[in-house]
Amino acid sequence: MRRYRKIYGDKLEACSLINAIATYEQSLTTVNSPFDRFLAGDKNAISLQAREGYQIFKSYGCTACHQSANVGGNMYQKMGVMADYFEERGTPITKANLGRYNVTHDDYNKFTFKVPSLRLVVLNAPYFHDGSVSSLEQAINKMARYQLGREISAEDVQKVIAFLKTLVGEHKELTQPAAE
Ligand code: HEC
Repeated sequence: MRRYRKIYGDKLEACSLINAIATYEQSLTTVNSPFDRFLAGDKNAISLQAREGYQIFKSYGCTACHQSANVGGNMYQKMGVMADYFEERGTPITKANLGRYNVTHDDYNKFTFKVPSLRLVVLNAPYFHDGSVSSLEQAINKMARYQLGREISAEDVQKVIAFLKTLVGEHKELTQPAAE
């Protein structure tokens, strides 16, 4: 809040908040990652384990939702397509869990969220909109179960993580220090 005031003044205004969030999101842009170099033709830019992880990521069907250059970020999907995530989580459902419904008030959008980009996912625990999962291993296990209706072996999870690590590239310098 102190840093916000320094830039935008004392008033909390929608346009200032949007500007602050958009500037933060721009700082998340990552370019020239090992995976980008791999796709550009440098076959040795990523390890064999990461290459296998990429194949697993595609063959399990993760790419049905986590797509294109940002490996996500271009569609909304239900959390719990194949099994009831919220029932099995075991904690009461909150307004935030209704996701996009809070914007559209259309029943169809209940429990629907923007598919997140996985570009910086290895740096960004905890996971999911409810922050309920602290490890990437668990997040991937839950994705396999709730979004694809299948189990994933511990070995395959490690390979997928090796792949996800290759998505992190160079970042634009933050023009403002990160919020406290
Ligand atoms: C049917 C669409 C769909 C499929 C298939 C899918 N995901 Fe997701 N993924 C989502 C959605 C939606 C979220 C956000 C859920 C939330 O915020 O509660 C998400 C979140 C994640 C997260 C947490 C990201 C974060 O920053 O919190 C990871 C990691 C992830 N997915 C990996 C995978 C992997 C690996 C696979 C394949 C095994 C996969 N996903 C398959 C839709 C999908």
